[in-house]
Amino acid sequence: MKNLMDIYTRKKKDIAAIEKELEESIHADHSMLRDTSLHLLKAGGKRIRPVFVLLSGEFGDYQLQTMKHVAVPLELIHMASLVHDDVIDDANTRRGQLTVRSKWDNRIAMFTGDFIFAKALGVITEIPNPTVHQIMSKAIVEMSIGEMEQIRFFFHADQTIRDYLLRIRRKTALLIAISCQLGAVAANAPDWISNKLYTFGYNIGMVFQIRDDILDLIGTEKQIGKPPGSDVKQGNITLPVLFALEDRSLRPHILTELERIQEADGQTEVSKLLDMIRSSDGIQRADALSQKYMDKAIASLDKLPDIQAKKDLIEVAYFISNRSY
Ligand code: IPE
Ligand code: IPE
Ligand code: MG
Ligand code: MG
Repeated sequence: MKNLMDIYTRKKKDIAAIEKELEESIHADHSMLRDTSLHLLKAGGKRIRPVFVLLSGEFGDYQLQTMKHVAVPLELIHMASLVHDDVIDDANTRRGQLTVRSKWDNRIAMFTGDFIFAKALGVITEIPNPTVHQIMSKAIVEMSIGEMEQIRFFFHADQTIRDYLLRIRRKTALLIAISCQLGAVAANAPDWISNKLYTFGYNIGMVFQIRDDILDLIGTEKQIGKPPGSDVKQGNITLPVLFALEDRSLRPHILTELERIQEADGQTEVSKLLDMIRSSDGIQRADALSQKYMDKAIASLDKLPDIQAKKDLIEVAYFISNRSY
């Protein structure tokens, strides 16, 4: 499998330009807002959403200046949602660094997130197309609903697979879908192309979050930049856990562990629960479902012109479905 960096090589210059623009975009006269935002930006991240914008833009009239004004807000929206997500999840580390809420506090994280959202809004006005603004607004609304639903479903062992899929569609997949769609829209690609790219992005976004949820259960701290088992500690019941709960002999033991973790408010060991889930067929079944989304994603590119960007999108898709970070 190719490393993400190999895939990025062709777009290296443009990615560097976006990186620079990202840094400029969060400029603040207020020193604490500057510190908190820069702290997150400098912690790195895969910049997957900007990469999707750039590759999708190649299906139309690709102008770096225009691409930047779409890619930067999308990464900013992602960053803002992470700062807020870490408040919801009580997370202390992200990207291998302290979270804003942990280095500063929850209130400061709230306003850092708001600040970054506002900066995203500022940059996207450079694209004089209200349809683009509407699509972004809707995606942020859906993300908020997704995160609220995640809170509502904490420790609900009786939720359905559908509840889970709907939630990750909102909190993760739609932003990736519109990253692919808007790259093409901003480059004035025909609608049928931006629609196909949206479908690709949506399906790969589902793969992305299912993989993220698997990694939380089987990854190492070094790989995932935070302690494994963070989801179950928080009560976030993900796809492998839901599948493991369908195992009649395991179910009562998983339920007992979940209750114990909930009573301890997450301030307890989760290794026993992790072992149970790892010993079940939950991971493998989650992988199989992810593979179905992967197949749909690849199929949605079928009719698109055979340009290099199409091959790169496929490479990024394979990276996402196998990623270990
Ligand atoms: C993390 O996203 C949050 C999810 C949607 C799973 P990424 O894995 O893209 O985070 P960074 O930007 O690379 O840190
Ligand atoms: C992704 O969900 C968060 C957002 C889409 C805002 P997770 O809670 O799984 O992300 P990580 O695992 O904290 O990066
Ligand atoms: Mg989280
Ligand atoms: Mg996660």
